[in-house]
Amino acid sequence: MSPLKIAVLISGGGTNLQAIIDSIKNGYINGKIEVVVSNKKEAYGLVRAEKNNIDNIYINRKEFSNDIEYNNKIISELKKRNINLVVLAGYLKILSEEFIDEFENKIINIHPSLIPSFCGKGYYGRKVHEEVLKRGVKITGATVHYVDKGTDTGPIIIQESVRVEDDDDVDSLQKKVLEVEHEILIKAIKIKEES
Ligand code: GRF
Repeated sequence: MSPLKIAVLISGGGTNLQAIIDSIKNGYINGKIEVVVSNKKEAYGLVRAEKNNIDNIYINRKEFSNDIEYNNKIISELKKRNINLVVLAGYLKILSEEFIDEFENKIINIHPSLIPSFCGKGYYGRKVHEEVLKRGVKITGATVHYVDKGTDTGPIIIQESVRVEDDDDVDSLQKKVLEVEHEILIKAIKIKEES
């Protein structure tokens, strides 16, 4: 099995990225993060990449005339590295149709709920957990799914549940779900590696 050539797209803290870095280091995943791409200059995930000698680039949307050109720049960065798995790890921009077509069935996303609940347009980050608490569900969780041209609509690869306790607030729930995200994201990459 040839090692995965992974690109990780981020917009924030990069704890999911860190989970991938760690699982490659400990030998669980047979692959290499060839590049980390961020649309946010201040994303701490870029620091995590730097600390681990991983090629990392901030691509400023303002330097492009439209979203298609912006996506084309990312596509070119990934193609020149022969990427065969794209991981969206807290990446908050929408991918272009060209991007989806270019990496068909090779893009996965981690979402902090049990899709199809609490997902779709506007459901990301803290908002997801706020809505979970507002609705009063007793079970939430996380999902890794393939990315298609919809929002959080691609085929589901793996899910894991998290109990919502009476004394949970957004912060405690986000923390519990994030721990599960790290676990299932690695398992999903392993599934891809072995497929
Ligand atoms: C996670 O909650 C993930 O589910 C969502 O964005 C957040 C990214 O966290 N897509 P991190 O940047 O990996 O710490």
